[in-house]
This record gives sequence, C-alpha cells and structure tokens, in this order.
Amino acid sequence: MSIDSILVHGHKDPDKVYNAAVPPIYLTTTYRKEKFGGPQEFGYSRGGNPTRAYFEEFIAHLEGGKHGFAFSSGMAAGAAALSVLNAGEKVLVTRNVYGGTVSLLSSVFKNFGVVYELVDTSNLEELESKFDPATKAVFIETPSNPLLDIADIRAVSELARKHGAVTIADNTFLSPYFQKPLELGADIVVESATKFLSGHSDVIAGVAATNSDELAERIGAYQRSGGSIAQPFDVYLLIRGIKTLAVRAERQVENTLKVVSWLDGNPAADKIFYPGLSSHPGYEIHKKQAKSPGALVSFELNEEHYDIAAFFDALRLITHGASLGSVESLIQNPTTGSHARFTPEQREKAGIKDNLVRLSLGIEGADDILEDLKNAVSAAEK
Ligand SMILES: Cc1ncc(COP(=O)(O)O)c(C=O)c1O
Repeated sequence: MSIDSILVHGHKDPDKVYNAAVPPIYLTTTYRKEKFGGPQEFGYSRGGNPTRAYFEEFIAHLEGGKHGFAFSSGMAAGAAALSVLNAGEKVLVTRNVYGGTVSLLSSVFKNFGVVYELVDTSNLEELESKFDPATKAVFIETPSNPLLDIADIRAVSELARKHGAVTIADNTFLSPYFQKPLELGADIVVESATKFLSGHSDVIAGVAATNSDELAERIGAYQRSGGSIAQPFDVYLLIRGIKTLAVRAERQVENTLKVVSWLDGNPAADKIFYPGLSSHPGYEIHKKQAKSPGALVSFELNEEHYDIAAFFDALRLITHGASLGSVESLIQNPTTGSHARFTPEQREKAGIKDNLVRLSLGIEGADDILEDLKNAVSAAEK
C-alpha cells in the first residue's frame, strides 16, 4: 500500500472493540488487575497506554523500523536517543544542528560525562578524522537546521559502523513522507513531531524509531524511567495531523519552489540555502536519499541595502515566530530565534550569519505568500 493511504488509514485496524475509524483516546492512568499477580498488557500509563502504543507501532511502521516511541517533545526524543551513550563516550554532531540539541548536550549530557563535538557532517573526510576510541555515536540532521546542509546518511552510517558507533538521524525537516533514514542505514531516527507530523502548531511531541532490540531497550528505559511520554490527547492530535501529511507536504513544497525561484537572483537574497537548487553542494546526495527538497529555505538578506528588522516587522501573512512544518508559513532569524543559545563563536563556526532568514512554507496561496515577501522586502529597503 502507498504511504499516502497508510497515513490516512494507519498501519492496522485502530479499534478492536467497536471498529471505530479513529483510535480511541484512553485517558486512563491505571488499569484494573483481573487476577492477583496475573499478566497485564497495560499496568500504568507512563509505562504503556493503548493510544500511545497504537501510535508507536504506527511510527515504527512509517519510519521503516521495528520499535517506535512517542515522547513529550522532539527534545525528549533526542535525549532518549542520546541516552544510549555512557559516561566517557563522545558523539559527533552536525555543526549547524538545531540549537536545542547543542544546549541539551552542553547543559545536560556534559554533566553526565558525555562529550560532543560539532562537525561538518557533509564532509566525510572531516568526519572520519574526528573519530577516536571514545566516539560511540554520530548525530546527524539532514537537511540541517538552519542551513540545510546535507549529510550522506548511507555513507555516514557506514563510517560510524566501521568505527563501532551508532548513527542517530534527526529527520524533522522532511518527515518519513520524504525521507527514511533507517532504510538508509541509520540506527535511530528521531523527529520533532511538533513540526510536519502534527502540522498545525498545536502539539509539542517527539518520536523515535529503531530496528535494534538493544537500542530500543535503552530508549524504552529512558522513556519509562524518565517519564517523558507523549500524552494520549496529543497522540490523537498527531494521528489526526498525520492523515493529511501527504497533501500538506506536497503543497508546502509547491509553495517553497515558487518562493525559491523568486529568491533566486533576487538582489535582496545574497545567498540561498535549499537542497533543491542544483548549485547546493548536497544536491545530488539529497536527491538520492530523499523524495523531495522539502518545505524549508534559508537565505541571507542583503544587509547593505535591506534592514533585517524592518523586513521582519513588515510581514503581515507569514508568521514571525519559532517552529516549522506547519500549515501556516513561519519565518525566523536563527541568531535571535532557534540558535540564540549558540555562542557567537559557535554560530560563526556553523556558518550562521546574523542576516540569515529561515522560512518554512505553509499551505496558504502562493501568491499571498509572495506578495507578503515582496512587500516586506520593499519596506526593508534602506
Ligand atoms: C531539527 C529539530 N530537531 C528537534 C527539535 C526539537 O523539537 P521540540 O521543539 O518538539 O522539542 C526542533 C525544534 O525546532 C528541530 O527543529
């Protein structure tokens, strides 16, 4: 069956009791025991809940994995994946990864003895040179946030395996509709479900999936014991959002392509970052591993002739705010938004300039989006 149909109907019958078309929301925290000491499928909802269990199986199915997990946020999913590391071990991380992932490593995992190093994971030679005996994981984000760098998932996974390390791939920018890292060799895939999976800016959640029983054991232990679980009502919202993922994503990309072609050659955009442009250094690799260039584009606003604050303040339709992957177009400046917690040196090393604009296209009319951008650019002219 095509992924489009599976997104709508789910991977299996959602309700064994009444044949409901939509999985029931089990808001219960506990479950009555039938028999003293007898077996029980669910005992306490932190450990397992039927709504979440259905969704976790669904996620595993969508990502092409054996085990799926649903978390209270994308960061919780990332933390669970990183919890497969032990004290004294090291993780190599895509240099312009989402800022929150770096904060998690520098403010939490560092205290547990897990070290990290930011690397240009699109450069295999540089990546290989960073492995040492303590390196037990590579965390890639492809396309990366916010510069849409591309890492070759298959090649990185092979390299990591050769060095006895696991590959964790953050697939937030594309969703399993467009890219399946596990099928390309990654060991764990994580996603901020807050973004394309939800699609409506109304739920914070995260997912993870793996084919490895051993890694699933570690991730499951973190989820159960840490308690960062997705709640049943949030899971319901995710299942509802996922039904329209295919049509949303296609329309978002359609709009993105129109915006990219308007930006291309526009004097307001000094540099455009989009893996669908043949000039993008990761163009060929991305085309091999993903079904679409996606619905995010970043560009550097020409600072000599345009004022960045005036540009943002003149926008009327596109929402200036955090997040991405939603039905509404969202725009932000990484220096003051997603990467504000990076030190200026870290931003410089990652190639994130203060005039960078990250745009996530929604499903509005393309003409309205373009008009909003054109008006903002005119208003920003110095
Ligand atoms: C690539 C990426 N990964 C992870 C996250 C964290 O997800 P959440 O905000 O759901 O915790 C984000 C959030 O913006 C993100 O963009």
